[in-house]
Amino acid sequence: MLRWARDRAREAGLRSVSPGTGSALRLLAASVAAKAVAEIGTGTGVSGIHLLHGMRPDGVLTTVDPEPEHQQFARQAFRASGFASNRARFIPGRALDVLPRLADAGYDLVFCDGDRLEFLDYLAESLRLLRPGGLVVFEGVFANGRTVDSGPQPTEVLRLRELLRAVRESQELVPSLLPVGDGLLCAVKR
Ligand SMILES: C[S@@+](CC[C@H](N)C(=O)[O-])C[C@H]1O[C@@H](n2cnc3c(N)ncnc32)[C@H](O)[C@@H]1O
Repeated sequence: MLRWARDRAREAGLRSVSPGTGSALRLLAASVAAKAVAEIGTGTGVSGIHLLHGMRPDGVLTTVDPEPEHQQFARQAFRASGFASNRARFIPGRALDVLPRLADAGYDLVFCDGDRLEFLDYLAESLRLLRPGGLVVFEGVFANGRTVDSGPQPTEVLRLRELLRAVRESQELVPSLLPVGDGLLCAVKR
């Protein structure tokens, strides 16, 4: 089913998480015994399948994406992977419109894979959404090596550098940058 979801992502021109990143997401969800996970950027459901595998069997994945077609593929992929429909809550919309409606300290893990220009805003929202001991995770922070390239870079890369600095300097977070896929930035909320 992962292959099916990956194929749909490729057709739609979306980048789904790599197998290594997926395996790390499963581990991270299991490490916090996640009952409630928020995902920004459903895509066709590749990351969601990994997260659901790591979560508690009664855990619910809340996943946000402005593209209903992407979420429709993910819904099919979750079902075909054997997850009951009540394991996922699909919210259509842009993250910064939807996240303010989600409960304070109601989540064990927030996975950010939406618009990289908004990652700093996702960090602020995540700090509010996470319970103490919860994890925030950002996908793709290497930007194919451009984050550490000294040449001129687009705004997206400059924003990623700001994110890395903010997470490193935050007194509220214990961070680690995992070199899987295109860079997975993880941090535990104290
Ligand atoms: C890289 S893909 C996500 C891939 C997915 N996590 C996976 O591994 O299968 C990025 C997704 O973010 C969605 N997206 C773009 N802007 C967004 C926003 N402002 N809020 C939430 N999702 C957004 C896109 O529609 C797309 O489906």
